[in-house]
Amino acid sequence: MMSEKNKITITCAPGLADILEMELEQFGFKSIEKKEKSVSVSGTLADCYLLNYVLRTANRVLFKLFQTGATHPDHLYKKAKSYPWEYILYKGSYISIDSFVQNKFIRDSRFANVRLKDAIVDRFMELYKTRPDSGPRKDDVVLFLYWFEKEAEIYLDTSGETIARHGYRINTTGAPLQETLAAALIYSSQWDRQSHFINPMCGSGTLAIEAAMMAIGKYPGEISRSYCFQKTGNYNINGYEVIKSKYRSKRIDRLPFRIIATDCDRRAVENAKKNAEKARVDHLIDFKVCDFRATNIPVGNGVVMLNPEYGERLGLEKDLEQHYAEIGDFLKQKCAGKKGFIFTGNLNAAKRVGLRTSSKKIFYNGKIECRLLEYDLF
Ligand SMILES: C[S@@+](CC[C@H](N)C(=O)[O-])C[C@H]1O[C@@H](n2cnc3c(N)ncnc32)[C@H](O)[C@@H]1O
Repeated sequence: MMSEKNKITITCAPGLADILEMELEQFGFKSIEKKEKSVSVSGTLADCYLLNYVLRTANRVLFKLFQTGATHPDHLYKKAKSYPWEYILYKGSYISIDSFVQNKFIRDSRFANVRLKDAIVDRFMELYKTRPDSGPRKDDVVLFLYWFEKEAEIYLDTSGETIARHGYRINTTGAPLQETLAAALIYSSQWDRQSHFINPMCGSGTLAIEAAMMAIGKYPGEISRSYCFQKTGNYNINGYEVIKSKYRSKRIDRLPFRIIATDCDRRAVENAKKNAEKARVDHLIDFKVCDFRATNIPVGNGVVMLNPEYGERLGLEKDLEQHYAEIGDFLKQKCAGKKGFIFTGNLNAAKRVGLRTSSKKIFYNGKIECRLLEYDLF
């Protein structure tokens, strides 16, 4: 099973599928299907180890175990009972099942989950006279059922807990960006990882930390966590060690350019530093408590990226327009020669920046439609 190729579906937040697809290509995986919240590729279970370890913009890595035509819950039960679960589950395994069900045979997807669980339990009872436990916990074996119309696909969720959290955020202030979104914004800026990355208004430091990790080739999997694939009966511990050491050996530890993170809120900067320490990139980031206008902008190329408050979540609308006008002045007066980016959900306030945008890309911060606005600063 380790070397058999099958469909791998990698899920992501809405709006991130194009960037996830690009990220997958960097690791040699060609997309075979792309949807709003997922990209599918072909690969082995061992490839899922790698994808969990390296991907910065993904939520989960699902490995397809089998699929079956099913127009009744009993069809699913029958097929699932004939699957050799004993290669994946231990006798004492705890199973959790999630699903997406859209067909006319089942009204409540929970019933589909129960039939799938029954099939596994009954198989174990017949083979070993013992039943695996099941429930909502995601810290052991997690399965995912995708049953659309007459076709059901059964996946091993090799991540278990979501990999959208990169594991370094111990303290947050204000309205932090999800790590996957921060990584996607940096990819989208086409920052070359060889020039400065400057992040005034850094808040909890997510953008600067993601930038530092990318620059040295450090992957989210390096920050300790466990995955569902490590709980399976066929877990190849050596295979995973080989992947880890291959990627760790490529990592660099010094940067010939600067990553700068500033915020006027002392507590935010303290939290950002703690988060960077947890990610072990604190030595690569220059932190400072200061107004964004006092951020030291080094000479040379680079990216300046700001994520100011934008009203729906923080800040007062009446002050925001003035705030955005000041950000525009700062970009114009202090950041010439750099590529400037503002990530915001408030397009009205953004009009006050007073600079021509060279691109506007749509992203979602939770439910809020936002834009990554790019400015060429001559
Ligand atoms: C939306 S939050 C940034 C969140 C950040 N991207 C993260 O992931 O944690 C905006 C930040 O701007 C900071 N801020 C607001 N006005 C500022 C100013 N005049 N100078 C510097 N920072 C400011 C706030 O303290 C806050 O931390």
